[in-house]
Amino acid sequence: MKQQLENIRLEALAALEAADSPAALEELRVKYLGKKGELTAVLKMMGKLSAEERPVMGALANTVRAEIETKLDEAKASIGAKVLEAKLAAEAIDVTIPGESVAMGHQHPMNQVLQEIKDMFVGMGYQVVDGPEVELASYNFSRLNIEEGHPSRDRSDTFYFNDEDSILLRTQTSPMQIRYMENHQPPLCMLAPGRVFRKDEADATHSPMFHQIEGLAVAENITMGDLKGALVTIMKKIYGEDSVMRFRPHHFPFTEPSCEMDMQCHKCHGTGEVDGNVCSTCHGEGWIELLGAGMVHPEVLRNCGIDPDKYSGFAFGMGLERMAMGRLKINDLRLIFDNDVRFLNQF
Ligand code: DAH
Repeated sequence: MKQQLENIRLEALAALEAADSPAALEELRVKYLGKKGELTAVLKMMGKLSAEERPVMGALANTVRAEIETKLDEAKASIGAKVLEAKLAAEAIDVTIPGESVAMGHQHPMNQVLQEIKDMFVGMGYQVVDGPEVELASYNFSRLNIEEGHPSRDRSDTFYFNDEDSILLRTQTSPMQIRYMENHQPPLCMLAPGRVFRKDEADATHSPMFHQIEGLAVAENITMGDLKGALVTIMKKIYGEDSVMRFRPHHFPFTEPSCEMDMQCHKCHGTGEVDGNVCSTCHGEGWIELLGAGMVHPEVLRNCGIDPDKYSGFAFGMGLERMAMGRLKINDLRLIFDNDVRFLNQF
């Protein structure tokens, strides 16, 4: 029996030494220490021993059990540590591997230019406002002094919603002048950017939807000089200090006098020619039209409850796409709306 116990001890310790997983350890525990295990089997035979031998063998069996248990605990601890180590190694993150780059978007070029323009006017004390794209004809036309029968009111030019032609998609941002003056008393300065709609076929310079930026300043003693000062300051900031501007007489029903502002073509410098060919940027004009403007018509002020004998003001309306094309040297309006990322990524 002594020999049997000694064999179990040696075998168990060696097996535990060699075990390499928690499952193998559990198997060995059952094999040696379990109810039907080898050690238990030997102990069951104790009854057959003599009274002198029994306590000696009992003590020996207990020592063997204790030794196996200790070894089992040690093996458990060391295997646990090894398993943890392996797991940590397998799950380790190499922070030095370059990450997968995420494609970052950016503001649309037209919005970049809009933001620049807004910032400049805000710096000059203008309030930026928003208004409806579905507009009443009275705001879009009548109260701006555009009478019945004016060509711009024609159904071939304007998108109407009803048979009476009283609701439409605004054809200009100028109705924002009326909306603002209805709710604000002079002195006032406002800037109203937004979408406008006209029945135009799309080509390099036309689109049935485009953006305008309306400006309005009303106070006592506002003159055409203020208009020129404000607009030249802004245009030089946008197109460069050395850009050349001119004002031309024009007609708009809601301003008197009215004018248009042009910038000398940056490509041909006003000559209309590049290397003997007609300049493609200004089509030989030498000048690029930037905006319409003028002194607010007394009738328009009156329509908004503002006394034209006390107050005067200037207004202007510019095409945002045109500004963006000039600012970013884009030669086809449609590129701005196509949103081809190969185009957009250039800005
Ligand atoms: N609304 C005009 C247009 O669409 C542009 C314009 C001209 C606006 C003169 C103004 C202005 O405020 O004073 O053609």
